[in-house]
Amino acid sequence: MSDDDRGDASEADRAAPEASSGGRNGQQDVVRRERFSGGPARGFLSSLAADERIFAADLAVDRAHVVMLAEQGIVDAEDAAAILGALAEIERAGHGALPDGEDVHAAIETAVVDRVGDRGGRMHTARSRNDEVAACIRYRLRTDVLDAAEATVEAREVLADVAADHVETVMPGYTHLQPAQPTTVGHHLASYESALTRDTARLLDAYGRINRSPLGAAAFAGTPFDVDRERTADLLGFDGLVRNSMDAASARDFLVETTAAVAALATTLSGLAEDLVVGASAGHVEFDDDYASTSSIMPQKKNPDTMELVRATAGDAAAGLNGLLSTLKGLPRAYNRDLQRAHGHAFEAVDAVREATEVAAGAVATADWQVETLAAAAGEGFSTATGVADLLAAEGVPFRTAHEVVAAAAERGDDYEAVASAAADRLSEPLTAYVDREAVEAALDPAESVAARDSVGGPAPEAVAAALDDARDGIAADGDAVADRRAALSAAADDLATEVATYA
Ligand code: ARG
Repeated sequence: MSDDDRGDASEADRAAPEASSGGRNGQQDVVRRERFSGGPARGFLSSLAADERIFAADLAVDRAHVVMLAEQGIVDAEDAAAILGALAEIERAGHGALPDGEDVHAAIETAVVDRVGDRGGRMHTARSRNDEVAACIRYRLRTDVLDAAEATVEAREVLADVAADHVETVMPGYTHLQPAQPTTVGHHLASYESALTRDTARLLDAYGRINRSPLGAAAFAGTPFDVDRERTADLLGFDGLVRNSMDAASARDFLVETTAAVAALATTLSGLAEDLVVGASAGHVEFDDDYASTSSIMPQKKNPDTMELVRATAGDAAAGLNGLLSTLKGLPRAYNRDLQRAHGHAFEAVDAVREATEVAAGAVATADWQVETLAAAAGEGFSTATGVADLLAAEGVPFRTAHEVVAAAAERGDDYEAVASAAADRLSEPLTAYVDREAVEAALDPAESVAARDSVGGPAPEAVAAALDDARDGIAADGDAVADRRAALSAAADDLATEVATYA
């Protein structure tokens, strides 16, 4: 089991408050740090560069911890003020100005000690980098997840808007990429709005488990100091604790569910992207120039590259999820350095997929649906055949028989005559005994065919319009859910700043 020994130096300082950096304890500390400086593996061991992502998070976590230590009388107000002052300077100087270190936590502590002397080492009292890094990852990731969730909400808005403009724009619907039944652009786009609703929900659900504080767990085994874990959780806007200290330091399943949610979102988007690529190829939709590229050799080309990259992002996200799970699988309790390579997968995936979501939404918002081409294509391949069979079944022909009649008609053509002659061969009565010619011709018309399918969730214009009304309620509610969480985080950040200011 790997211990984070950095806490010991601070405790040594606490036991001998007069010790200067030249004193016995200070010397031991320097000796220890030099011995374990990494040697040739220094760069390999260090996460400092990647930790830029959690620089601001670490400063917040440090501040909340120091405020709590002062409130609990573990560190006196003067030392707390000195440390908090140093943290403000370190924040202004930025991540790039940090001294060398194994990671951002060590580097910030060194920078604090450089500014205020050994008492800066009190900052690490009653904690370890193990609970610290877990808190930093959660602190940062929760905002990233809200950003991704917001991107899904905005994409849903775009999909609902464009769908509403096209509830009557008939288009071919496919199964197996073969013409199947006519539908509308509105119904098609609304299907992605519906799918993205679940992606938003998965992200918000993950948020609830990300936003828990591991602070106070120390290395994994708790601390003898009288820490107030609820207080640091509150100051950082966490909605509660990961209570068991061993679980708190070890748990990374919140990364798994975040990356899984993001990979699922990317998979949804990849389907939309593929449909748009295929649609562009068939001349059904044209992308705005901003979302297309040309060829370096073929001057006439307008390629849907943005959608191809959105499609590919699903592969990256799936790879990230796989990398993360493979890293975590079989790790023993409690902390293992493997964990340093875990959260990068989640951060990378959430960034890439959030961007892909925004790009996909932009492409949909600006694409030009080719209404006439779509109308002409909507009836291709006798795509209204099912509607004719439905009509016969509605007039008393057993559906299986109706299916056979229309299948036989399809061998002859896709018009009334074909249906009538197939019916004459298979049914005991002529077609007109069941249904009149007008009704059959209506069923053969793509727009009428769509209008007839007005079951809940179906493509008929009024069914899609009703679904879109409900969708808008869901979009607004999810937008509020994101905004509420952001407001809670910014209120906590304000409270923390107010508390910190009392030590100035
Ligand atoms: N950089 C480390 C990480 O990301 C921080 C924790 C180091 N803890 C330790 N026991 N070595 O996981």
